[in-house]
Amino acid sequence: MQHAVSAGEVTSLTMSDFDALEFRSALGRFATGVTIVTTVDAAGERYGVTANSYNSVSLDPPLVLWSLAKTSRSIAAFEDCEAFAVHILGAHQEELAKRFASSSADKFSGLDVHAGLHGVPLFEECAAHFECTLENRFEGGDHVIFLGRVEHFAHGDAAPLLFHDGKFARVEASEKKA
Ligand SMILES: Cc1cc2nc3c(=O)[nH]c(=O)nc-3n(C[C@H](O)[C@H](O)[C@H](O)COP(=O)(O)O)c2cc1C
Repeated sequence: MQHAVSAGEVTSLTMSDFDALEFRSALGRFATGVTIVTTVDAAGERYGVTANSYNSVSLDPPLVLWSLAKTSRSIAAFEDCEAFAVHILGAHQEELAKRFASSSADKFSGLDVHAGLHGVPLFEECAAHFECTLENRFEGGDHVIFLGRVEHFAHGDAAPLLFHDGKFARVEASEKKA
């Protein structure tokens, strides 16, 4: 097994810190797409977070899932929501991903969004989006897992934005054979 940090370099860390770093590093080997998940609360305040924990679950019924840290600013809004929207980001949307990976309160300012199912904010020009009603939520340690039932969806043909090893990435065009 390859360790990112050798034992000699971690003397200032506790054993559990070392395990956490190794765990994160191992988790980061898994390449994912990047999404922004949005919702709106009863007062009309809009929320959105960058998330790569998204995955498809079921075709019939159509279900998807993602998870959010309990420490995130928007956790209560997602726990109480009727609906949320998952936007699969295109390769051109790295700046948007960075904006929604921050905890600022005005992430939506200046963006072209419209209200979808239950008033949930929808972005244009994503690779795909899924409008979901909240089907269930589950305890997931320091995260909450949200299961959504897809009510509407749309997709284009944009190349996806990727995330791997803590960095954004893009699909490399495969070389054409002569
Ligand atoms: C590529 C990427 C993927 C992320 N995926 C998740 C995720 O799946 N779950 C999560 O809780 N945070 C994730 N984050 C971190 C959140 O986007 C970040 O904590 C954000 O500030 C949460 O917004 P909030 O504090 O306004 O709720 C991710 C960040 C990046 C850059």
